This record gives sequence, structure tokens and C-alpha cells, in this order.
Amino acid sequence: MALRALARVNLAAVERNCARLAATAAPAELCAVVKADGYGHGAAPAARAALAGGATRLAVATAGEATALRAAGIDAPLLVMGALSAEELAGAVAARADVAAWREGFVAALAATPGAEGVGVHVKLDTGMGRLGTRDPEEAARVARAAAEAPGLRLAGAMTHFATSDDDPAFVREQLAAFTPWAERLRAEHGDLLVHAANSAAALTEPAARFDLVRCGIAVYGLDPFHRDPADHGLEPALELHTYVAEVKRIAPGQSAGYGRRFVAREPGWLGTLPIGYGDGVRRGLTNNADVLVEGRRVPLVGTVSMDNITVDLGPGGREPVPRGAPAVVIGPQAGEAILAEEVATRLRTINYEVVCGISARVPREHHRDGAPA
Ligand SMILES: Cc1ncc(COP(=O)(O)O)c(C=O)c1O
Repeated sequence: MALRALARVNLAAVERNCARLAATAAPAELCAVVKADGYGHGAAPAARAALAGGATRLAVATAGEATALRAAGIDAPLLVMGALSAEELAGAVAARADVAAWREGFVAALAATPGAEGVGVHVKLDTGMGRLGTRDPEEAARVARAAAEAPGLRLAGAMTHFATSDDDPAFVREQLAAFTPWAERLRAEHGDLLVHAANSAAALTEPAARFDLVRCGIAVYGLDPFHRDPADHGLEPALELHTYVAEVKRIAPGQSAGYGRRFVAREPGWLGTLPIGYGDGVRRGLTNNADVLVEGRRVPLVGTVSMDNITVDLGPGGREPVPRGAPAVVIGPQAGEAILAEEVATRLRTINYEVVCGISARVPREHHRDGAPA
């Protein structure tokens, strides 16, 4: 029996994507970014698959995400990349995660946190992202010194983050020109530390950005960091979003579908109701603005996306064009056709990241390996 909404996640695809990324990045290590519940794919299963595929480390954004991975029994080296308040810092320490730092006061607070012995500090230089990190290389060097000298702490890494690796390689090179000499100086001063900068887009296209480690998120899940077709980089989308046709009804000229009557039929035809909506992450911006696959056929989503339902135009004809219960796909392949997350993102004027992260907690995730139970 079909579920009203189901995200099917192929962990074998995650594993293959990671094998490909690891081979591309080698000799740099692959750190799989599994924040935001593994970009909506399920953090712990995605992390295990990434490690099986060749990732040697994991990264998350929050202390809570680190805690959840440890609770799931994952004990790979883990980096919390995000800002941490004092309470959150204690959580990250308890999860035996490394942390990112760019202020001396933060390093002092970390050193004073019970249980912080052995915690690795990755110093973050802001070379142009304008978000976390310090823009001042001298301050960043002082932070590194503080981490190296604080009893119990470990200076573990030197990092930065790119602002434009998906669309402006010239600015990536500017960021690299700021980062590389600073990181090399730190390495000369402190010896063994991991230098890292690249996200998926940079890891795939900018060899000079790979250093010791690449931090890949979107590509791990088989989504294209360049917003086109993941196949361009040999990536396989891991996630499919399924629903089914719960209701089929005739629609006559002048009759409408959904809130606000944003679709009014001009011809006699058939309407299908699919029990998935913005409460599941099918965004309201897809109102009259998406295709869905039903029995391998692209049909237009018509009318307003509701919280729990969408309606599709099943076309004209004298007989019901599809039976009630017919499987439908919002993201993914069906009988030779496919809807990529990138297509949905383009319709919404957003990025594939937001499409998959937006699939809500109400949607069960079913993990499998090429169709076999995971
Ligand atoms: C600091 C940092 N590194 C790496 C990543 C992974 O980026 P991507 O998903 O583009 O590979 C992110 C994600 O946004 C990030 O915030």
C-alpha cells in the first residue's frame, strides 16, 4: 500500500557519489557534510553510507547535529562548522566533535569547558564569504596560537569557505590568494594541521582548492552544485519524493481546483488529487508551476498547493486516464521520465539545496540500497 508521501533515499548512490568525490579529491581526504539532517536525506544513514564510500570525516553545522550522530553510534571524526554559544559548546565537547574558531575568547571558553581535553580547533579565516570567521589574518594566527598553547586543546585545522564556487571562479581564486599563504604560514608555524576550503563545487572544479581535505555536501547526495544536471559530474541523485493519486475526478469547463480558484478548466478533463502539500515540503510557489510524474507521464500541477494536497491535470478523455492509487513522483524518475530537484529549484527560483532540505519531518524517509532493503 502506498504512503501518502515518502522520500526514498538510495544509500548506494550516496556511497558511489562519495567514492567518486574521494577519487577526484585524492590525495585530499573527503569530509561528508551531513548537516540539516543530511540535506534532508537522513543524517545518520547518509553519514554511514558516505563513510562506506570513502569519506574519512563528517561535518555538521550544530552541536545538536553532532550529538545526534554520536547517539546513532557514529564515531568518525566530526567537525561542527557553525557558531556555538556557551551552552552549545558544551554539547559539541560532549559529542567529541572538533569545532571552528576565529576569536581568542572562544578558544579560552572552550579550554575552560569541562571535558574539552583533546578537542580539535579549526581556525577559520574569512577570505570573502563575509559570514563566519575573522577577516584579519593576524587575529586568525593569534587564535591558532591560543589553540596550540591552551592546555588540553589541539590545533587541528585551518579553514575558509568560498562564496562563489558555483558561478565565479575568478572570486574563488581571489579567496585562494588570501587563504593559501596564511594557511601555509600556519602550517610552517604549527606543523601538522588539516588545511581545508573546498565545498562540492570547488572540490569538483578547482584542484588548487583541495588542500588536505574537501568538505562536500550537495554532491554527496548526487545533486549538482552548479544547478544543472548531476550527471554532468557523474553524480546520482539519491533522493526521490513519492506520492500517489488518491482521487480522480472529472472537471468541466468553468470548474476550478484548489484555494483561490487559481486553476479553472477550459476543457472537459480529469483532475487527480495527490495527498502531498506544503506541509510536506512541496512549496506553495509550485502553484500552477510544476510537473509531476504519473504513470511515467509528465502532468502539470494545477491550482494552489495546499498544506496536504496538490492537484494535477490528467488531461482529456472519456475514461479515467489513471486508476486511483496510481503511483506519482514529485522528484525522481518514473518509467523513463525524471524530475530533478534542480528542475523544481528552477521553477521556484531557488537552489536544489533548499528543495531537499525543505522536505519536512512529516515525510517518512525510506532508506534502501539500489532497491534492496538497507
Ligand atoms: C562551511 C561549509 N563547508 C562546506 C559546505 C558544503 O557545501 P556544499 O553543499 O556546497 O558542498 C557547507 C555548506 O553549506 C558549509 O557551510
